[in-house]
Amino acid sequence: MDQPKVIITREEISNKIAELATQLRKDYREKNPLLIGILKGSFVFMSDLVRAMNIPVEIDFVRLASYGTSKDSSGKVKLIKDVETPIKDRHVLVVEDIIDSGLTVRFILDHLSLHKPASLKFCVLFDKPSRRKVEVPIDYVGFTVPNAFVVGYGLDWNEKFRYLPDLCILEEQD
Ligand code: PRP
Repeated sequence: MDQPKVIITREEISNKIAELATQLRKDYREKNPLLIGILKGSFVFMSDLVRAMNIPVEIDFVRLASYGTSKDSSGKVKLIKDVETPIKDRHVLVVEDIIDSGLTVRFILDHLSLHKPASLKFCVLFDKPSRRKVEVPIDYVGFTVPNAFVVGYGLDWNEKFRYLPDLCILEEQD
């Protein structure tokens, strides 16, 4: 059975979110931004981020899924749940837990751009650049993580481990 091993602690995550929030507060003050989280993984980051920002924001969520059995095999993403808030002329910040191939972000940026937001930026807590298949602009990044299977802080393996407060890798146990 694989056991989670901590690679980024809850304290490190909390400190990084405080840094990101300080920058975002400067960039979005007086703009009433709309933060759009990509479900499910982003729900923990989103809830910590909006409270750390501590300025008026609105939130919404989208949910995406990949066609076929894995993103690696098909590379196609479809929309399961769209944003419910009109985004025309809004300052939109997409909030994502992890960027891997970049396909999810590419899809949502293209999709949201069609609705003509006033601005559209992207904030990711964990970046795994070694796995990138498509280049995507990232405006705010927390940590760069190695090419290993990571879980916790919202990220899952077969829907398990999302609840863990730290970012972990799964290690094989004898
Ligand atoms: C994960 C993660 C990102 C996406 C990143 O979501 O939360 O949304 O993969 O991968 P990409 O850059 O290769 O597109 P997943 O599809 O596992 O769904 P979940 O958020 O519901 O766990």
